[in-house]
Amino acid sequence: MPMPVISSYPIDTLRSRRSLLRSAAGLALAALPLRAQSSEARMDILLQEPIGTIAPEIYGHFVEHLGAVVYDGIWVGTNSRIPNVHGMRKQLIDALRPIRPSVIRWPGGCFADQYDWRDGVGDPARRPVRTNFWVDTPEWHEDANRKGPETYDPNHFGTIEFVRFCRAVGAEPYLAANLRSLPAQDFWRWVEYCNSPEGSTTLARQRAADGEPAPLNVRYWGVGNESWGCGGNFTPEDYASEFRRFSAWVPSYGVKLALIGSGPSSDNRAWTRRFFEKAGGSGIGKLWGWGAHHYSWNVSGGRTRDWFEGKGDAVNFGADEYYELLREASLTESLIVSQWGVMAETDPRHRVKLVIDEWGSWFKPGTEPFPEALLGQQNTMRDAVLAGLSFDIFHRHADKVAMANIAQLVNCLQSLFFAHEDKFAVTPTYHVFAMYAAHQGGQSLRTEVSSPSVSYTRDGNPANIQRVSASASSKGSTLTVTVNNLHMTDPTTMDIAIHGGKPRSVSAEVLAASAPSAHNSFAQPDAVRPRPAQAAISGNGVTHRFPPASVTKLTIELG
Ligand code: AHR
Repeated sequence: MPMPVISSYPIDTLRSRRSLLRSAAGLALAALPLRAQSSEARMDILLQEPIGTIAPEIYGHFVEHLGAVVYDGIWVGTNSRIPNVHGMRKQLIDALRPIRPSVIRWPGGCFADQYDWRDGVGDPARRPVRTNFWVDTPEWHEDANRKGPETYDPNHFGTIEFVRFCRAVGAEPYLAANLRSLPAQDFWRWVEYCNSPEGSTTLARQRAADGEPAPLNVRYWGVGNESWGCGGNFTPEDYASEFRRFSAWVPSYGVKLALIGSGPSSDNRAWTRRFFEKAGGSGIGKLWGWGAHHYSWNVSGGRTRDWFEGKGDAVNFGADEYYELLREASLTESLIVSQWGVMAETDPRHRVKLVIDEWGSWFKPGTEPFPEALLGQQNTMRDAVLAGLSFDIFHRHADKVAMANIAQLVNCLQSLFFAHEDKFAVTPTYHVFAMYAAHQGGQSLRTEVSSPSVSYTRDGNPANIQRVSASASSKGSTLTVTVNNLHMTDPTTMDIAIHGGKPRSVSAEVLAASAPSAHNSFAQPDAVRPRPAQAAISGNGVTHRFPPASVTKLTIELG
């Protein structure tokens, strides 16, 4: 079977890169010891070809007032019997800190464009109760008690509580401002509340009364969310005008503000092109990041195309659905490349970076961890591989992607945690974040991965997908290599050749299970967890056997 090259480079480019390497560096890729006869795949790591620093912010999170994300998930209240730190669930804080969460986006999502930040400041006992944006969504579980905070938000978790949560876990706050239903002035006032100097303004005094006299120095601000949809159903031109108005004058108070615009749904090039053209220099000049959203719904297979019933199931899936979900996730790579190209038409120097501020799997209802967890879903080894391959893509485009935020942190979509009353569990996706944390701040390295593709059926037609996804980064003499074996049933043996350095030692950690549908639950919180594995140096690299549907981290010390 031919070995197609799985890489962001066309094959011709690879060939010329190989000959270039041979002549310029005296390194012949083909001449390195290759024990590929028994291997299904090969990875070349080019130490001398850095792509860019992996922004820790690509390991970001997203918290929305949606179902049980905030209330129950994060906020249990100061008088709760559940162990808490000033009202925030302690187990969650303790589990988050070691994975270095970098940045957290809040309060939405669609919720953000309905939210008045003033409702969430001042004495918590006197804050207004408001109807939540998601009150009428059809995905509600029929058994859910819909009279709680997920429907009538008491605003006990507001700006200060969120910023304290970020502080407790070591993350930067990313606030998403309301562009659909509040005037631009409210956005600036929110910035004023957060960042104006101590004692300087009425809002700084309000902040002090709320317990935070010093400025919060919030840097990341979203200007609208999904402005093509729940954020206002704008045309790109109308949104560009709104964005210009909102961003024309925002007080900085010495903070280098990073404004993030509401970018496309998946790879909608027209949205981006028309926004950038209309926003023009004065609009684009204010933009730090362009926020694309990309979900993997698993919609092939002849199902109805209803908004929620048309999606796949979180746990019950066959091979076609397994591979199709991963293929949908792998489209993130073409999204990045194509959006980057469109942005270059009006921003050729790429001052604006890409922010993938919602990504992950989204299944049909039915596997919620408890009824109030609206859009809650189980999280299997398949989701773990999805997360791993998504990070590999972000690493390969470390020069383009400045931030990414998985949707969502707890009890919702591809969450890292389930938390309900006194019950708590981490998901396989959590373990991927923990394993991949070593990449944060590393130098992403050019890699070339070749492997036979895997065949499956999509809507009755033949389809295929790469068998292996991988990426590499270095920090000093430590090389971190992460490998996802996408094959659902077969292990993959891969030769990893290191160009420009010699391995001295290697250690491995693997996340694998008896079936790709394996998952954790409150009853079995440790069914899926990473384990140390044996790995050995071979020649100028490592040859390793990766279990089916697995995520592996190799830590290689270079001599
Ligand atoms: O993450 C759930 C929702 O998905 C968000 O509120 C919205 O931005 C997107 O459509």
